[in-house]
Amino acid sequence: MSAGRYAQITGWGMCVPDHVVTNEDLACTVETTDDWIYSHTGIRQRCVAQGERDTTASLATRAGRNALLVADLMPSQLDLVIVATVTPEYAFPATACCVQDALGASKAGAFDLSAGCSGFLYGLSLATHLIRSGEANHILIIGSETLSRITDWKDRNTCILFGDGAGAVVMSACPQPCGIMATVLGSDGSGRDALVLPAGGSHCPPSIQTVSNGDHFIKMNGREVFRFASTIIPKATEDVVARAGWRASDVALVVPHQANARIIEAAAKRLNLPMEKFLVNIDRYGNTSSASIPIALCEAIDANRIRAGDKLVLVGFGAGLTWAAAAIEWGMPMPLKPQSAPRRLLANARFGYATLRSLVTRAFHRAYNGVLGPEGQENWRGHLRERVDRWRHAHITPRHKKE
Ligand code: UT7
Repeated sequence: MSAGRYAQITGWGMCVPDHVVTNEDLACTVETTDDWIYSHTGIRQRCVAQGERDTTASLATRAGRNALLVADLMPSQLDLVIVATVTPEYAFPATACCVQDALGASKAGAFDLSAGCSGFLYGLSLATHLIRSGEANHILIIGSETLSRITDWKDRNTCILFGDGAGAVVMSACPQPCGIMATVLGSDGSGRDALVLPAGGSHCPPSIQTVSNGDHFIKMNGREVFRFASTIIPKATEDVVARAGWRASDVALVVPHQANARIIEAAAKRLNLPMEKFLVNIDRYGNTSSASIPIALCEAIDANRIRAGDKLVLVGFGAGLTWAAAAIEWGMPMPLKPQSAPRRLLANARFGYATLRSLVTRAFHRAYNGVLGPEGQENWRGHLRERVDRWRHAHITPRHKKE
């Protein structure tokens, strides 16, 4: 760690699909009721991705743009883009690479992070250490999910819980002692069967059999995850508060992973903190996995629940099983002064240019490969001549034959 170098959140943004599915909508397709879902989980509705417009990468890109606008940072200033997700755009390449390209973050490295619903906080912890050690100045961390695409909409045990969305933060170096003051990361892989997507990986590659068994859908032992979460949320909170050198009573706001309102209430009771100190927005979004904490953070900021100097705890748990927490001393002046209209216009023009550049570059890649074939650049003149000759032969009738 470099002395006098800290890492703080300077930008934040979120994006959720427009399409909303209410508990009543679900009650039309599975045997459940609004009353059961709300009393057991605290959920009233969730946002669900629609068609090609809403994918993990596109939601992440929109949330990332919003975070960059707040941070007043150019995409080219980013050193790294991290996307935490359990529903990546593809198995590979990384969703983060799609986002880096769409944003025009031309100088940034990019990778995905898989740590279940704790993924965003794992990213935050890693980014803190990269910034504090001097390896990076600005990092974009995004939690983005389209869980609706791996949800069995006929399984009432799971389909009532999950929603889609993305949340992002920009983290930057700062000289004042504020920002991320401590983090805690943990995992217990022996509990991995409690929350799993059984098929599609190396253990069980996709086949007609896996699809007909529904093994490409989330499988969950709800009671086991509930028990684990109710213990680990208070423990991780206590650990990170101790690591930061604070007392629990110093904490102004806890932003927990939004998996179940009852889990949050149980944690509040164990920590002996009033529920007013917990951000709960699960009623409108359901469980959005790695996106839930950054989305909740954005909503806390919008609702003026965070002031400069406030001590916050972000805490989550998820598939793995994993858990993570971050102790944050908020460094940004709140409420933040809105950006001037011309600056905003310029930033949006930059995003527009990045989209255009991406389209043109990818079209160029396709055309280039189409002409040269798989051999790439080797002997490209020869290949080109050969292809042109073949084309001429097929399409231009030689004069002497015409005559
Ligand atoms: O990011 C981490 C992801 N996962 C979690 O955090 C999940 C944690 N677990 C939970 O949130 C809860 O365990 C659930 C909400 C999933 C389930 O609540 P529960 O109070 O643990 O219910 P249960 O599984 O013990 O089921 C109680 C009853 C069962 O009926 P029987 O066997 O007692 O007759 C279920 O079949 O409720 C039934 N049930 C439902 N009834 C109406 C289960 N799901 C539903 C439903 N509507 N959607």
